[in-house]
Amino acid sequence: MAILITGGAGYIGSHTMVELLEAGRELVVVDNFLNSKPESLERVKKITGKNFKFYEVDLLDYDALDKVFCENDIDSCIHFAGLKAVGESCAKPLLYYHNNITGTLNLCEIMQKHGAKRIVFSSSATVYGKPASVPITEDFPLSTTNPYGETKLMIERILKDLHAADNEWSVSVLRYFNPIGAHKSGLIGEDPQGIPNNLLPYITQVASGKRECLSVFGNDYNTPDGTGVRDYIHVVDLAKAHLKAIERAETVTGIEYFNVGTGIGYSVLDIVHAYEKATGIKINYKIVDRRPGDIDECYANPEKAYNVLGWRAENNIEDMCRDSYNWQLKNPNGYGD
Ligand code: NAD
Ligand code: WQD
Repeated sequence: MAILITGGAGYIGSHTMVELLEAGRELVVVDNFLNSKPESLERVKKITGKNFKFYEVDLLDYDALDKVFCENDIDSCIHFAGLKAVGESCAKPLLYYHNNITGTLNLCEIMQKHGAKRIVFSSSATVYGKPASVPITEDFPLSTTNPYGETKLMIERILKDLHAADNEWSVSVLRYFNPIGAHKSGLIGEDPQGIPNNLLPYITQVASGKRECLSVFGNDYNTPDGTGVRDYIHVVDLAKAHLKAIERAETVTGIEYFNVGTGIGYSVLDIVHAYEKATGIKINYKIVDRRPGDIDECYANPEKAYNVLGWRAENNIEDMCRDSYNWQLKNPNGYGD
């Protein structure tokens, strides 16, 4: 039996594929390269020496996705495919709702039809909105501040209703905190298009000389040094959480939610300093205004993932910074054209 990976060519999908292939799993992968390149899949093959079936399919194309299920024995799915840029989601809400929600509805409908009722879904800490306190546990109230976050929360609700209607489903909702870093080989990593939205890709481009100076968005937050605090998690640790989640899903039905973070909060300036320490490169930065919508602090209580999945993060912040830089050095233009 195979695991369907949607969005496998993307940043987290490609790292997860490596872990699953190395664990001997059979994979069928779909992606439409909306935000990725075919080269990432070639790199996954290079790292693992293993192969998998790939379909260039858009989740919005019901018939093409149905055909993937007809041609393969798929019993479970790890669902990464979706658009993820917060700012773009405010400018193009319909694109985000259509792609993320309709794509997931198609997927679930087809899974149900083929009796494949196991899904691991990529949710986000964004569903906690502006948390009243930290660390965050899975039972915190949910709310969102932008259309991207709204799609994650809506999909969580869709999956909850799906399980309520048919309790043969096994649903694992993984709420990722801030994934960074890259595979140690330097062959796969994050390949943002244009100016990076997120902190680590931006710092990495400053370190490599591609950009002059990091803008630190505000130093008047209610945090120890005034800059925003987040829970950064190594993408390889995150990838390993998916293997644990799928192993568990094979033995139980039900719906469970898991925070996937380290439980440690670092400020923007902590990250700048950790990056400098890990690479020996000075990061130029300046303090600018806050970015609209940003919150003071967000970090996980990841105990449930440890107690139920037996998973915990192993890499520290310097590992994450070093591996990001290694990827950038080896691939100055990402996966290229
Ligand atoms: P990514 O953009 O690198 O990967 C997503 C992949 O999905 C891309 O390869 C893209 O081409 C594909 N895709 C998008 N729409 C599709 C469609 N309609 N049909 C087929 N393929 C489609 O993003 P990522 O960082 O790897 O994130 C993976 C998932 O994790 C996303 O759902 C994202 O919302 C979620 N997530 C990411 C982060 C993060 O900071 N990276 C944090 C929390 C949650
Ligand atoms: C981290 C910190 C910024 C860039 C986003 C999404 C979230 C999730 C993860 C998908 C903040 C500061 C950033 C810069 C800066 N994605 N910063 N200068 O906003 O915590 O989370 O990615 O689900 O939904 O919102 O991540 O990396 O953008 O920012 O000072 O150039 O770095 O203000 O404090 P964020 P980020």
